[in-house]
Amino acid sequence: MVNLISKELNDLINEQIVEEIRSGYIYLGMSAWAAKEGLSGLASFMKIHAEKEEYKHAMKFFQYIIETGGKVELGTIENVSTDYSSAEEILKGAITHEEHITKKCKELMDLAQEKKEYFAYDMLNWFLREQIEEENLFNQIYDDFLHANKSLGVWDHHLKHP
Ligand SMILES: [Fe+2]
Ligand SMILES: [Fe+2]
Repeated sequence: MVNLISKELNDLINEQIVEEIRSGYIYLGMSAWAAKEGLSGLASFMKIHAEKEEYKHAMKFFQYIIETGGKVELGTIENVSTDYSSAEEILKGAITHEEHITKKCKELMDLAQEKKEYFAYDMLNWFLREQIEEENLFNQIYDDFLHANKSLGVWDHHLKHP
């Protein structure tokens, strides 16, 4: 069995798997609230994002540990909210959450550099580039929401996940 990963990076990536699954869980909670409110566009957007993006991110970290001969550990995902007061609260929350994930990805890269884990650079660069997309995506739908002013229904109707 190869051994191409340090214990420290292995541990931090295991934590990141939880962060990514938790991201999907948070967006699923937002989707549930939106569905209940009749905001089917937002409900679908958040559900697709959880399935299509966040689960994929978790699997990419998972696979990296397997390929480098590390040990996958799957931590606990705590309860997340399905109670929100508005679509705006959800959008602001999603932006703040993606900023948090960007910070986590930077910490992973900091550690990889400190440990000279060159193998991890490509994978982590992919995630850093992905976070540019993630932050842009949520900022874009929030901007669209602000521009739509009081026509929440029209905004929701036109909301599509890319
Ligand atoms: Fe993610
Ligand atoms: Fe994300």
